[in-house]
Amino acid sequence: MAKRHIPGGVNTSLRSVGIPLAFTRAKGSRIWDADNNEYIDFHCGFGTTILGHCHPRINKRVFETLQTLDLVGVGTTEQEAELADKLCLCVPSAKKVLFCNSGSEATYNAVRLARAATGRREIVKFQGCYHGWHDSVLMNVITEASKMGMKDPLSAGMSQEAIDNTHVLTFNRLDEVERKVRERHDRIAAIILEPIPHTIGCVLPKQGFLQGLREIADRHDIVLIFDEIISGFRHSIGGYQKICGVTPDLTTLGKAIANGYPLAAICGREDLMDQFNTAGGNVFFAGTYNAHPLSTSASLATLEELENGSVYEHIFALGDRLRKGLQGICDNLGLNTHTAGFGSVFVTYFMDPPIECYDDLLRNDANSFVAFRRKMIERGIFMLPSNLKRAYISASHEREDIDKTLEKAKQPLAEIAESREALMH
Ligand SMILES: Cc1ncc(COP(=O)(O)O)c(C=O)c1O
Repeated sequence: MAKRHIPGGVNTSLRSVGIPLAFTRAKGSRIWDADNNEYIDFHCGFGTTILGHCHPRINKRVFETLQTLDLVGVGTTEQEAELADKLCLCVPSAKKVLFCNSGSEATYNAVRLARAATGRREIVKFQGCYHGWHDSVLMNVITEASKMGMKDPLSAGMSQEAIDNTHVLTFNRLDEVERKVRERHDRIAAIILEPIPHTIGCVLPKQGFLQGLREIADRHDIVLIFDEIISGFRHSIGGYQKICGVTPDLTTLGKAIANGYPLAAICGREDLMDQFNTAGGNVFFAGTYNAHPLSTSASLATLEELENGSVYEHIFALGDRLRKGLQGICDNLGLNTHTAGFGSVFVTYFMDPPIECYDDLLRNDANSFVAFRRKMIERGIFMLPSNLKRAYISASHEREDIDKTLEKAKQPLAEIAESREALMH
């Protein structure tokens, strides 16, 4: 039905996964499709619902706000000021913060600000990282082997100038960054990266890589942007920067920030952020729905839940249990997989380690990866059935959900092991 008037039947390209899906209900760790089939949900709205779906305390706060305030759209509200104060207390790089509605808007504004502040045009991104749909960053995400080393724009119609101004380098290869910056230092405005590239599952930064980027950026007055739209709030209330101890100049936040309500943020150094909106600055920042009271209320309520750390304890423990369990099943079957992850994020790659950058992931067996997830969906366990995509655990998941998932995974993994075996003979 959705296809009648919606191109492709979905409102985000990545929501189309090759099988018809329509959902009517979501609660806690569960989602229900239009045929009333129940699933344990490990997609979690692309990682947004860190507390679980339709969380009672978040929804209560949103309903309370709704009784007195919707969108006024001029001046400010108490909620946004309070939320800005809170973020600046939690996130190490945040001295000032602005709110928008989506991660793409946040990274767009971060890149624009970096260009304005440095007077330079070019940026560096890394193969495998996704930073949203705008022209300067929409390239080289999940690139086919035959296109590696070339520019790989994800859409027709992008500005060639924007594509040309973006250098795509290899994550974890500080020598490549050094070389590029040596060649182009007076032209590079920003280095933008996911500190953990979760777009392609979970590739951890090598010891010294993030610190090395910090030093290179400092040496050449380049703006270092951590895109923590996935990792922020998901791994710690202070973002991954709080865990790794490297502070970027600008940070973009989104997804788990408001447990599924539409909100994103850009924050960072005061001298940079003050170029937006202030008398002394000349960088434009706008959006009719920016800092919508419903989203900022949802975010304040979400941060209250995250503050004492018990959510992280719970989801990290479940993450460890699930990763160990999945790897154990595969090892018993002699299936060469590697279950990676961090905290509440997990992914089973159908390949052997090591995995240090996107190039390594070209060894992943995409057919087995997707087949496993499709088989799991048939058994009531939902992980996005797209190659390399990560899966998430929320605070609403319980140990029993993890154990049930492991039980359900045995047969699909055994079938994959058998079919691979058959292929080899
Ligand atoms: C790391 C990262 N940055 C930016 C974005 C873009 O965010 P949005 O889809 O809210 O525009 C995403 C979305 O998946 C993301 O994962």
